[in-house]
Amino acid sequence: MEVVISGTGLFTPRESISNVELVESFNAYVDSFNIDNQKEIAEGKLDALTHSNVEFIEKASGIKTRYVLNKSGILDIQRMKPKLKSRNNEELSVLAEIAILAGQEAIKDANLDNKNIDAVICGCANLQRAYPAVAIEIQKGLDIDGYAYDMNVACSSATFAIQNAVNDIISGVATRVLVVNPEICTGHLNFRDKDAHFIFGDASTAIVLEKKELSKAENIYQILGTKLKTKFSNNIRNNFGFLNIPEDSNPEDSDKLFKQNGRSVFKEVVPLVESMIKEHLEEVKIPIEQVSRFWLHQANQNMNELIAKRLLNHDINQDKMPIILDEYANTSSAGSIIAFHKFNKDLNQGSIGVICSFGAGYSVGSIIVKKIV
Ligand code: COA
Repeated sequence: MEVVISGTGLFTPRESISNVELVESFNAYVDSFNIDNQKEIAEGKLDALTHSNVEFIEKASGIKTRYVLNKSGILDIQRMKPKLKSRNNEELSVLAEIAILAGQEAIKDANLDNKNIDAVICGCANLQRAYPAVAIEIQKGLDIDGYAYDMNVACSSATFAIQNAVNDIISGVATRVLVVNPEICTGHLNFRDKDAHFIFGDASTAIVLEKKELSKAENIYQILGTKLKTKFSNNIRNNFGFLNIPEDSNPEDSDKLFKQNGRSVFKEVVPLVESMIKEHLEEVKIPIEQVSRFWLHQANQNMNELIAKRLLNHDINQDKMPIILDEYANTSSAGSIIAFHKFNKDLNQGSIGVICSFGAGYSVGSIIVKKIV
């Protein structure tokens, strides 16, 4: 049986922060910290903080702006985190809300009605709560009958969820699956950490997968293969979790937010992704030269360019490997799907493409697709 991607959707927050605005706020925080701690710094008990820099951010990452659910809280140097209104149990949670907005668009794009969907998988790096599953709330919000569940493989949550959806359809437990990836990455970002304060933005993506013969969409990609790989690493880590309370740890500690050794991640993940894509293409017997487009995880432009160069032995342009991280920053699992959503309709029938995610775990997910309509 063949499974297709027949619809995609994207939620983009209304507010955005430029590098200039972000750095201005970070540097004001640094100045205020150094003044407040003048004595301890002079006595050598504390290190003075140093300024961030727009040129560094753009050169090291390619990021220029990011969309965020709340701008004022992040830029307020007394707060430096988004300010989100707490919602009661009768209100829709914010994670479910942004997933529903993207999901609705994907279902419409697939020329379907919500009632045609029979499963929802919510794959994202940060879930709002332990239970009930956010996916079940999304299922209720969209009035979908069937089953729903949450899963988390950090930045690879979308590709891992796609493989689950494909397998559910092939095994016959579902006919049409909605995969959603709501990523409120600003909630786990330490805006006081110079090495990372610029990295993330917020967004949500959604994909409809269904049996090929059922699809009524105008733009359809058949899944030719899925391949996943994980390899344990502490280089990207977040220790937030339900045992923080019995362990008496401070929820405000920096290890309860995103932390990475960016340089090591860069060095170790590039060869992992290169070998994964090469092996996967060999398995489905497609020469790499036949690939029209790579929709890669969107964390670092230099990293994506290096991966492409190692795969093809030459530089490639935006047409072959679209970059959206300049505008969105890293949106975790949503990144490669945003690139796919924005840059897939123009390809000709028969074109081959690779969606590839990579990130914490480490985890790598590759989905090879062929445009059939
Ligand atoms: N402004 C100015 N200087 C900064 C800075 C900032 N915001 N952040 C770091 N620096 C400095 C560092 O302190 C360091 O200074 P030093 O040489 O005096 O020690 C220097 O810039 C280089 O830092 P480094 O961390 O080695 O930079 P980098 O070139 O590796 O770029 C990342 C940092 C995070 C952009 C990059 O490593 C990256 O994106 N890695 C991949 C991450 C990834 O894919 N993660 C997946 C997450 S889901």
